[in-house]
Amino acid sequence: MEIIRTVAWMKEYARAARAEGLVLGLVPTMGALHDGHTALVARAKKECSRVIASVFVNPKQFGPKEDYNKYPRDIEKDAEKLGAAGVDALFAPEATDIYPDGFRTYVNVEGISERLEGRSRPGHFRGVSTVVLKLFEIVQPHFAYFGRKDAQQVRIISEMVRDFNLDTEIVVCPVVREPDGLALSSRNAYLSGEERAAATVLARALVAAKDELAAGMRDVLQLQDVLRRVIEAETLASLDYAEIVSADTFEPVVRVSRACYAVLAVFVGKTRLIDNLYIEPKAQGADEFTFRL
Ligand code: PAJ
Repeated sequence: MEIIRTVAWMKEYARAARAEGLVLGLVPTMGALHDGHTALVARAKKECSRVIASVFVNPKQFGPKEDYNKYPRDIEKDAEKLGAAGVDALFAPEATDIYPDGFRTYVNVEGISERLEGRSRPGHFRGVSTVVLKLFEIVQPHFAYFGRKDAQQVRIISEMVRDFNLDTEIVVCPVVREPDGLALSSRNAYLSGEERAAATVLARALVAAKDELAAGMRDVLQLQDVLRRVIEAETLASLDYAEIVSADTFEPVVRVSRACYAVLAVFVGKTRLIDNLYIEPKAQGADEFTFRL
């Protein structure tokens, strides 16, 4: 696996690969890699002849009181995992190369970026869309792979791709979980033993909502109550938000009648975790749904 440390070199590498007629797949990450990330790589390997993964802890998507400084970093271990997963090139630039002095151009996907995660983390999605647009411009991949774990993020990126006529196709991959349901996340490393046990509360709440949906509950206020009650019963957890939203716009809905997400953000101790349940109609307009955790 080639390790690429500069923007200029990455552009050259990608340009040469495209000229050879290779199909480029990009897997953007912030490192501290786990099986959720390597599942994206595995999918990219199936569909592309050249797979590039990026590891860049993007300062622009962290708020002033967030964990940018303590975000787990271990580039050697990450490189080992990506190499073993069959990645062809690892792009690991310096922050000063991505954001040199004088940098002041940002992209913001309006509306959707201010809801939910965007409301709790002002400026977060502006940082995400800006860095992802830069990565897409540097690599110009045919395909880019994202996890449904961050459902609002991948929806925002898809809107940016559409609005800017980008030639990158977004591929959304399922959520990878621990056997007890906890969605894998680099931030799970912050949890103490007790908090780790309590952290299953997100998946438990979503399963409870899913069971009610399967039994016919469609009213969003009732479904939100189900989510809230499970979270409130867990003493180490405190709820940031629990909502049912349209899968297209992330605007609230009053009844589940089309593709939706049940989205959760919960503090377990000081660690903020997110998770979601995708509620997908079996056929257009049908009142029968498939539930994807
Ligand atoms: P990061 O949190 O490192 O996640 C990188 C990718 O892995 C994202 O697409 C995320 O949705 C996916 N991912 C994380 N946990 C997952 C899980 N349990 N199952 C499936 N996929 C999972 O998301 C970011 O980094 C950044 O915002 C980034 C897009 C790289 C821009 O800086």
